[in-house]
Amino acid sequence: MTPVRFGILGCAAIAGRRMLPAMRQVAEAVPVAVASRDLARAEEFAGRFGIEAVEGYERLLARDDIDAVYIPLPTALHAEWIGRALAAGKHVLAEKPLATTAAQAAALSAQARRAGLHLAENFMFLHHPQHALVSELLADGVIGEPRSFTAEFRVPPFAPDDIRYRPGLGGGALLDLGVYPLRAAQLHLGDALRVVGSVLRHDAEHDVDTGGAALLATPEGVTAQLSFGMADAYRSRYEVVGSRGRIRLDRAFTPPEDRPAVVLIEHGDGTTTERTVAPAVQFALSVRSFAEAVRQGGAVPDPAIVRQARLLDDIRDRARAGTGADLRLPEGTY
Ligand SMILES: NC(=O)c1ccc[n+]([C@@H]2O[C@H](COP(=O)([O-])OP(=O)(O)OC[C@H]3O[C@@H](n4cnc5c(N)ncnc54)[C@H](OP(=O)(O)O)[C@@H]3O)[C@@H](O)[C@H]2O)c1
Repeated sequence: MTPVRFGILGCAAIAGRRMLPAMRQVAEAVPVAVASRDLARAEEFAGRFGIEAVEGYERLLARDDIDAVYIPLPTALHAEWIGRALAAGKHVLAEKPLATTAAQAAALSAQARRAGLHLAENFMFLHHPQHALVSELLADGVIGEPRSFTAEFRVPPFAPDDIRYRPGLGGGALLDLGVYPLRAAQLHLGDALRVVGSVLRHDAEHDVDTGGAALLATPEGVTAQLSFGMADAYRSRYEVVGSRGRIRLDRAFTPPEDRPAVVLIEHGDGTTTERTVAPAVQFALSVRSFAEAVRQGGAVPDPAIVRQARLLDDIRDRARAGTGADLRLPEGTY
């Protein structure tokens, strides 16, 4: 088996903390080189993982010993570098959110399709088997007909210089955290979800949204209530409410890697059942899934990428209309 050879654009925290260790755990992938705007930073990072250091992202894309590029750049830079990586003939695993507008997401998906290259958005939580179990329970009618989905992803404030407080880099809680409950809603309620209303709390000091909520619904009236924040007590959960019970995950987006995940089922008669799922490293599962798709010739980009970006556009539009919040992002960022 020939592993997929990865290059990494940027010495990002998420790359060093999670994705490089994951790439080294997966037989189907091998990290080869990391590029940084700063050579010394690339060398320090590369030394930690026994890979090569490259100065400048363009130089990494020009190498012919790289099959695929992992892009953990600040969110507003994803679209440009995904486009350049695809143009250089590389498969792309991009950090979430893949793009900041639906127009960008659609253009990049079309570019990947035309080039026959694989393009994926790194929603690693989707690869944890606890969600497949929830889907199975719903399909088996264990809680009856789904009525509503509620999900929350909230974290305490980041360090003051974090990219999430930089509007020009695509900062803000919706793009950083809100995307998770939104993607989970798509997973369990399907692709006909529409945005009914939303609120984004604008932080005047940083000029980004630091939290908010959205209400979505399917044409049949099944609702999704999503909330997110980056100035909050930690919470990473979702619940599906059905006509005869409910299913809850208390560590939906960040399940522990060293112990089983717990899926809690509350039945209509008040009893509860706990189902456990063996520990899993979702970062490694995400890398493996991407590498397998590349080795099989690359899949057509998941239509959920564009649907998700459209819903994000709608959430922002509704929030502006409803609250007058103007996030004052630079031209072209959204
Ligand atoms: N899937 C997940 O679980 C997960 C978790 C956390 C974050 N993420 C996503 O990953 C991305 C990176 O997040 P992070 O927290 O790892 O960010 P980070 O540590 O700030 O890293 C971003 C990297 O981008 C490069 N960069 C290029 N231009 C930059 C600029 N103008 N300002 C700052 N950095 C610049 C830098 O690399 P060089 O200086 O080396 O060029 C920097 O190390 C975001 O899109 C985020 O949403 C995903």
